[in-house]
Amino acid sequence: LAAPGVPRPMADDLDQLKAEENACTRCPLYETATQAVPGIGPRDADLMVVGEQPGDQEDLAGRPFVGPAGQMFNRIAKEAGIDRAQAFVTNAVKHFKFTPRGKRRIHQNPNAGEIKACRFWLTSEIELIRPRLILSMGGTAAESLTGSRKGILARRGSIEATEDGVPVFLTVHPSYLLRLPDPALREAETDKFRADLRAAQAHL
Ligand code: URA
Repeated sequence: LAAPGVPRPMADDLDQLKAEENACTRCPLYETATQAVPGIGPRDADLMVVGEQPGDQEDLAGRPFVGPAGQMFNRIAKEAGIDRAQAFVTNAVKHFKFTPRGKRRIHQNPNAGEIKACRFWLTSEIELIRPRLILSMGGTAAESLTGSRKGILARRGSIEATEDGVPVFLTVHPSYLLRLPDPALREAETDKFRADLRAAQAHL
């Protein structure tokens, strides 16, 4: 166990971690979300994939990347030679942040305080899984993992590191591709995303 007063993750298995994440009150997002959405995947995964936060469908299912962004990721990852089932897939923030609009819940970006508060849980997951490489998708994951808020488009395709020295391969978020209105641009950006995933896989 950690020495008293030393803020270290205490969970030593994923089930315990899930229970602890569901009891979290480190930021206010637990108040409105359905549940925490912990990471999922093999305990001995070489690759950890980190997104932003659960969306509407993930919040209801309790599992990450099951909605449209997840389906996009699954498809491109497969084309790039990544088997999602062998990766540990998680998010920088574990609770869904949204504003209600009629019957819909509209996604809101987590702020710096929420990202920082939730880094505790991401650190716990990294310590449990000890991945060889983290694939960081989008600006929120990059901010959480590297501490830098510099634009992701200028950094994508490069490898940085967590403060504990775990290599972090940076790329864009699949939702970014889904939001691009111009089909030609979307296709070009999807090709780049696939190339990023291939390059990440080659580093394993
Ligand atoms: N977007 C994310 O970043 N994570 C999810 O789990 C779903 C959508």
